[in-house]
Amino acid sequence: MCNSLLSLMSLSFYHILLLLSFLPSLYADDSCSSYTFSTDETFASCIDLPHLNAALHWTYAPKPGTLRVAFRASQVRHGWVAWGINPIAMKMVGTQALVAFRHSNGSMISYGTSIDSYAPLMSPGELTLPIYNLLAEYVNNETIIYATLGLWNTSELNVVWQVGDKVEKDLPQRHEISGENLKSVGTISFG
Ligand SMILES: *[C@@H]1O[C@H](CO)[C@@H](O)[C@H](O)[C@H]1NC(C)=O
Ligand SMILES: *[C@@H]1O[C@H](CO)[C@@H](O)[C@H](O)[C@H]1NC(C)=O
Ligand SMILES: *[C@@H]1O[C@H](CO)[C@@H](O)[C@H](O)[C@H]1NC(C)=O
Repeated sequence: MCNSLLSLMSLSFYHILLLLSFLPSLYADDSCSSYTFSTDETFASCIDLPHLNAALHWTYAPKPGTLRVAFRASQVRHGWVAWGINPIAMKMVGTQALVAFRHSNGSMISYGTSIDSYAPLMSPGELTLPIYNLLAEYVNNETIIYATLGLWNTSELNVVWQVGDKVEKDLPQRHEISGENLKSVGTISFG
């Protein structure tokens, strides 16, 4: 009894040591708040998103109802990333998305696309919310989308994000349909 308690204690002590040795490097490597943008733009808040090695930075201005965002995700040079909000539900279909990738002419491009099915074409389209100042860049193996969204009165939103490593004929191709790629949704209160 006493022995097993002791071994239990030493086991948890061991785990605490393990945790302590891992925690600091998590902070050092992954904390979005220490990230410096190439543009020197700063944001009021940020979150390291739990899947696909991505982060979202934002500043919400309630009076005009605008959300300035920068979405960052690890990506290969010729892959694509997308981020969007789904005003209807916490899922892919219905997402008002912004996509970014390297165009065949070499430029990074970004545009809005409404995800209307589980096999969307991903071509440029009209969104149900206004988008301003859209820009994409590729820095340190990450694709970054900058945008300003008009949100009217809502500041709590379903967000959806995705990455894929293939672009053909200047259109993003299907992403993986397992694991992390199916978990990349959540709700964020921006206000
Ligand atoms: C590449 O194509 C995109 C999309 O048509 C365009 O916006 C961009 O200006 C082009 N860049 C160059 C360097 O031609
Ligand atoms: C980018 O990825 C390449 C290939 O994996 C790697 O060699 C390089 O160190 C990475 N660069 C940065 C800044 O992370
Ligand atoms: C925003 O709020 C105003 C005043 O509370 C309301 O009249 C308007 O319908 C709302 N707009 C939207 C798009 O929800």
